[in-house]
Amino acid sequence: MDSPAIPRTTAELDLRDVVHWLTHQASGSPPRTEQAITDCLGNHLISIVRSHNTPSTIWRFRAGQQAYVLKADVGRGAALRLELRWYLRAAAVGLPRGLFVLGQEGPAFTFLVLRQFGDTATLDDAALAGRTAADLQGHLRRAAAMNATLFRRTRRRVPVEAVHGVAAHRIDKRVAESMSYPYLLPLLTGRTVTVNGMPLQGLMRSWRDVVDRKSTVRLLTPAEIGLIFGDLHCGNILVDGSGTEVVDPRGGPLLPTAYDFGKLVQSVEGGYGAIMAGRYRLRRIAEDEYEIDVDTPPGYAALAAWLPQWLGDHRYQQALYQAAQHFLAMLPHHASARRETLALALSGMLQFQRLREALAG
Ligand SMILES: Nc1ncnc2c1ncn2[C@@H]1O[C@H](COP(=O)(O)OP(=O)(O)OP(=O)(O)O)[C@@H](O)[C@H]1O
Ligand SMILES: [Mg+2]
Repeated sequence: MDSPAIPRTTAELDLRDVVHWLTHQASGSPPRTEQAITDCLGNHLISIVRSHNTPSTIWRFRAGQQAYVLKADVGRGAALRLELRWYLRAAAVGLPRGLFVLGQEGPAFTFLVLRQFGDTATLDDAALAGRTAADLQGHLRRAAAMNATLFRRTRRRVPVEAVHGVAAHRIDKRVAESMSYPYLLPLLTGRTVTVNGMPLQGLMRSWRDVVDRKSTVRLLTPAEIGLIFGDLHCGNILVDGSGTEVVDPRGGPLLPTAYDFGKLVQSVEGGYGAIMAGRYRLRRIAEDEYEIDVDTPPGYAALAAWLPQWLGDHRYQQALYQAAQHFLAMLPHHASARRETLALALSGMLQFQRLREALAG
């Protein structure tokens, strides 16, 4: 973990100057500022990409003929450290390394260097730019196939109760954190919240409704876990023509593939990318009554109709369950952005409603 992997291509050998500086600076102390990292890149720097809601920053830089991406976070970088460990873990078991070149963990800063793919456009960008459903489908299939390759080679059977225990622990912890935001309480604890004229169950009741029924938990929880990207929403799927790559894997426990199908459902049906991009209208009519209208690109509307068919009924139900959990789990991380978090909470309620309909139908 302390020393970076050895560069493997000529273009990467040209990286040596930059990497030498990065590794030297990253090993120092005290924690470096973002400016110090920018200075490390000197005239190799192309641009800084500010990303949403995460402590890490992305720099694009050039070395030799190749464009790279540096993702770094000051200090030991709690989340970025897990991402680096994910790449090292995948490499250690001989799995494809994707765009990963090398990385190093703190103490001054933690960083990853990736090859730049395309012009940084994501599947969400492609959908917003009006790419056809057939085109978007191809990228989804390829991203899911990459995940399946990881999973196939690492999967193991475990009791459903163990998989459910990890999921329930995550939700209980995040719900407890969300409860410290008074504006979220009516949506979390309310018996009924009216959303777009529909009376829906509050989030905690929706969650308990599933987990208090053993047979529903068994139906919706897979008994196989393995290494997967773990954050396969459409803003982490990069597209370049018909080429597809995935970035931003999440280190942590081994997970069922349904977890990432849930991330896809959350993007395509749940409008996660549009909410993050501020493309929604939200109106509060009363404490427990809201109207929300999230922009859905036409390509995603067509994909949403195709998802149940692609996944099959059972896997689709499992993915809906995961998508609802993802909305619930992310509330505390966004909670300082009140409007956005309300939009996420309401979308979570709508997602639980789709799950109820899928289970009933
Ligand atoms: N290797 C790469 N090639 C091209 N673009 C990239 C690459 N890595 C990251 N990007 C661009 O930077 C964006 C953010 O990257 P990433 O998801 O790793 O960061 P993050 O800090 O987790 O941000 P977010 O909160 O948006 O997920 C990507 O959506 C993509 O546009
Ligand atoms: Mg990301």
